[in-house]
Amino acid sequence: MKQAMVVAAVVGLMAASGVNAEAAKADPAKAQQIVNTVCVACHGADGNSPAPANPKLASQHPDYLNKQLTNFKSGERKNPIMTGMAAALSPEDMKNLAAYFGGQKLAPAAAKDQVLAAKGEKIYRGGVAAMGVPACSGCHGPTGSGIPAMFPRLAGQHGEYIETQLKNFRIGERANDPGKMMQMVAMKMSDQDMKAVAEYISGLH
Ligand code: HEC
Ligand code: HEC
Repeated sequence: MKQAMVVAAVVGLMAASGVNAEAAKADPAKAQQIVNTVCVACHGADGNSPAPANPKLASQHPDYLNKQLTNFKSGERKNPIMTGMAAALSPEDMKNLAAYFGGQKLAPAAAKDQVLAAKGEKIYRGGVAAMGVPACSGCHGPTGSGIPAMFPRLAGQHGEYIETQLKNFRIGERANDPGKMMQMVAMKMSDQDMKAVAEYISGLH
């Protein structure tokens, strides 16, 4: 209940500040050249990143992708690789790239460790009551498809990338989450919780 109120308040704030307002129309075709010369090396031409440290971008909400690129460029989200990448992009490039990758099909994936994934499913759906960790499904949706524009898709993402982000949120290395929503979640999670929920998410679809 408390959690739902926080979400509603932040969504209201974003709507009021015009973050959700329809922006100039993005053209995914215009992103093609940058994709094929730059992003392809780490995220794949269709956003199905082959390496587990590089997030899959396929089927992610364009508004979320655009926000992350903007945050990398401004320094609100820190990462030595992506800061460099985003520095060269204009706001139009970012919008076009976000539309391009958001429109790609996510390749199906399965969890590798079923025992760990089963433990992770409990956290994803019910949180960790004793530690006050809320259910991930409350904000990221029961199927992990997220809720545009604020809550990213998690389903099918590399477990290793998910785990890194949770750890970064926990220590405040990643602090670009609206209303500190993810930092408050990650703060209460143990390494084992993070590993388990990441494993579950990697096979969620
Ligand atoms: C040299 C490898 C590399 C290249 C090239 C690269 N990226 Fe990344 N990208 C990464 C890594 C690593 C991360 C994860 C950063 C972190 O841990 O915070 C990332 C994260 C992202 C994210 C955040 C995704 C999320 O789920 O939050 C976006 C968006 C992104 N990259 C877009 C792009 C685009 C667009 C290009 C091409 C212009 C590009 N990247 C080029 C390595 C790369
Ligand atoms: C109160 C709402 C809320 C809850 C509950 C929540 N999240 Fe999030 N989460 C967010 C928001 C908002 C973002 C986007 C942050 C941003 O804009 O950079 C996010 C982002 C993330 C990311 C980064 C995704 C990416 O592509 O980089 C991961 C990983 C994540 N959440 C995992 C979880 C897990 C695991 C749980 C459950 C233990 C959880 N979240 C519970 C709101 C929530």
